[in-house]
Amino acid sequence: MADKTYDAIVIGGGPGGYPCSIRLGQLKQKVLCIEKDEVGGVCLNWGCVPSKAIIATSHTFEKVKRGTTFGLVVDNPRIDANKLQDWKEGIVKKLTGGVRSLFKTNGVDLLYGDARVTGPKTVSVKTREGTTEVIQATKAIVIASGATTIEIPSFKFDGKQIIGAKEAVSLREIPKRMLIIGGGIIGMELGGAYQHLGSDVTIVEALPTVLTGVDPDIAAVVERLYVKRGAKILKGAKALGYERQQDGSIAVRIDVGGKTDTIETDVVLVAVGMRPNGAGLGLEELGVKIDRGFVPTDATGQTNVPGIYAVGDCSSLPMLAHKATKEGEVVAEVIAGQKAAKDWVAMPAAIFTDPEIATAGLGEQQAKEKGIEIRIGKFPFSALGRAMSVNETDGFIKVVADKKTHALLGVHIVGPGATDLISEGTLALEMHAFLEDVGLTVHPHPTLGEGMMEASQNALGHAIHVMNR
Ligand code: NAI
Repeated sequence: MADKTYDAIVIGGGPGGYPCSIRLGQLKQKVLCIEKDEVGGVCLNWGCVPSKAIIATSHTFEKVKRGTTFGLVVDNPRIDANKLQDWKEGIVKKLTGGVRSLFKTNGVDLLYGDARVTGPKTVSVKTREGTTEVIQATKAIVIASGATTIEIPSFKFDGKQIIGAKEAVSLREIPKRMLIIGGGIIGMELGGAYQHLGSDVTIVEALPTVLTGVDPDIAAVVERLYVKRGAKILKGAKALGYERQQDGSIAVRIDVGGKTDTIETDVVLVAVGMRPNGAGLGLEELGVKIDRGFVPTDATGQTNVPGIYAVGDCSSLPMLAHKATKEGEVVAEVIAGQKAAKDWVAMPAAIFTDPEIATAGLGEQQAKEKGIEIRIGKFPFSALGRAMSVNETDGFIKVVADKKTHALLGVHIVGPGATDLISEGTLALEMHAFLEDVGLTVHPHPTLGEGMMEASQNALGHAIHVMNR
């Protein structure tokens, strides 16, 4: 016998599950969201938002330190890591409290506990209080269980010196030295932040490039600046293991091109990726297809078993909060009987390195691999008055378009404000815009957004402030 019955049960309260629950509530569905940890998931509690708070402070600190260039003289600026943490935790509390109150106002019930799917419409929950509740869904179960940080066996987390991203955004002391295993998104974002905060940073990346997946000319701008600021970036390198030293430091053995080197550090941050939490929830037993931990779905978010849906990191790549949210909304609408599907043109990505990176649509290489004849437009921030006046001139905006039709295919930005600027590019792609649409739109002066207009004009051969090809 079920203890309670709902129209829909959502397992997981992260950026996939909580918007899904709210949308279900808005659509007058009786909904229960089950969360085993804290609403907001990794993103709000230990990922996207807290890391961005730390990154923002690190960026301001770095600007203040080099402020004499632009007439800002501050004697002995320093970081209070405790205050930084308190401030960050305040933001997290505000946001997670906000989710709980949105649940209330939208009629979403919240249950804290560990959920297991025990039937096509049944979920069993081991609650925080230690009781077991059996809950019935009349319409649907949504899996929004996220992903977990991958551990390397030879670098088991100890929570203090061998840590993952979760601990790295909670440090109450800035380490003198930080060695990061993995030069992907987390490694480069947090590496950049701790470098600004004063750590001596080494990044160990197994592949020949850092930030694999973004266009190489974009990644090169960030890598060059990190190295210029003093970071050591070892590529084609593998961390083999470590020994604790008598003085408390950690000596990490690294293989670089067949040669073993040892690097001493105070903290090792392991950032080698996330694995999806699709397995072990009872889904396999019900015949739900699981593919390497992911729970695949069709365009409506439904798995191969009718009535069971999946959204976010546990379902497919890319593991991005905004993709999870969009999927959550789509699935809620489908469950409520509306016509909805995952039909976006471009899924933007925003990477908070310094300078920032943002991309939407096809990269230069990707377009070529698809056999599309393209034209490229590029505009450097060094030619933009606004970028000069905020003293952030590294990087560029690149647009990729169809050579003949001028249809926009991709926008790629490295530089100041990239993560905000990309929304214009994403909207342009979603609207099937042409270079002329962006290039002929009046962009206000002096703003960073002018770079979008100039890059599009450059692709057409008539940008004003750069030489055109
Ligand atoms: P990632 O997949 O971006 O990067 C992991 C890197 O570690 C790769 O470059 C890989 O080659 C390297 N690697 C793997 N094993 C290694 C080893 N033994 N030694 C040296 N290098 C090794 O994963 P990351 O950075 O952990 O982030 C996880 C996911 O979280 C991302 O894929 C992304 O989807 C999401 N994320 C997104 C953010 C954003 O959009 N701003 C911010 C943070 C995370």
